[in-house]
Amino acid sequence: MNLQEAMRVRHSVRKYLPKPIEEEKVMLLKEEMARLSAESGLRFTLFLDEPEAFTGKLAHYGSFTDCRHYITVVGAKGREEDVGYYGEKLVLFAQQIGLHTCWVALTYNHRKIKAEIPQGEKLHILISIGYGANRGLPHKNKPMEKLCRMEDSGMPMPPWFQDGVEASMTAPTAMNQQKFLLTLMRDGVTVKAKALMGPYAAMDLGIVKYHFEIGVGDHPFHWA
Ligand SMILES: Cc1cc2nc3c(=O)[nH]c(=O)nc-3n(C[C@H](O)[C@H](O)[C@H](O)COP(=O)(O)O)c2cc1C
Repeated sequence: MNLQEAMRVRHSVRKYLPKPIEEEKVMLLKEEMARLSAESGLRFTLFLDEPEAFTGKLAHYGSFTDCRHYITVVGAKGREEDVGYYGEKLVLFAQQIGLHTCWVALTYNHRKIKAEIPQGEKLHILISIGYGANRGLPHKNKPMEKLCRMEDSGMPMPPWFQDGVEASMTAPTAMNQQKFLLTLMRDGVTVKAKALMGPYAAMDLGIVKYHFEIGVGDHPFHWA
């Protein structure tokens, strides 16, 4: 499965099969996490067979079922956009090797998490992972015109930019808020990505930017 496909079939999965992740896949995940940790300066850690992280009152509210594996993302404060960008790399990698995930900012049992958090850093987010009892469902989208803009409104939207925006629309965002705006600047090659007001909107923006890059593919452009 290539990244384009992984991006399109990925949905949040909150109901899992109570089964272990095979050793080979654990190795692949750990290699990818080590690579992403080195590249980003964030710390990705995999916790296996820890069902307590999703038990208790909050789990009820977040309605996770049989979730027993998760990844923590720890790093300096202010790195939210990078957490989104590199975390989504891991999420799509997991999808490519046949695993399902969900980004989880709130609905887990905070007291049961074993992540080590050095001083000055924070636990940014969890990513639940495992074999889904289902594959999740496509989310609702805002109309495309609410999510993107041409700085030069007289210019027709180039297909590569539209591909990028469509890919961004498949990105997971906190509470499916889609609080982002992608603007193609007048020069036709610079794209400005802006997080609008909303909880976790900066993290969402990192995720959205990664999807945009996948959607655009080889066409040259750069971020503002
Ligand atoms: C930063 C972030 C935080 C999230 N936190 C939670 C959460 O605490 N609990 C939960 O059940 N889902 C959480 N989600 C999942 C979103 O609700 C989900 O991505 C969104 O509804 C879109 O659905 P999709 O992922 O299936 O495309 C979070 C997603 C993101 C990106």
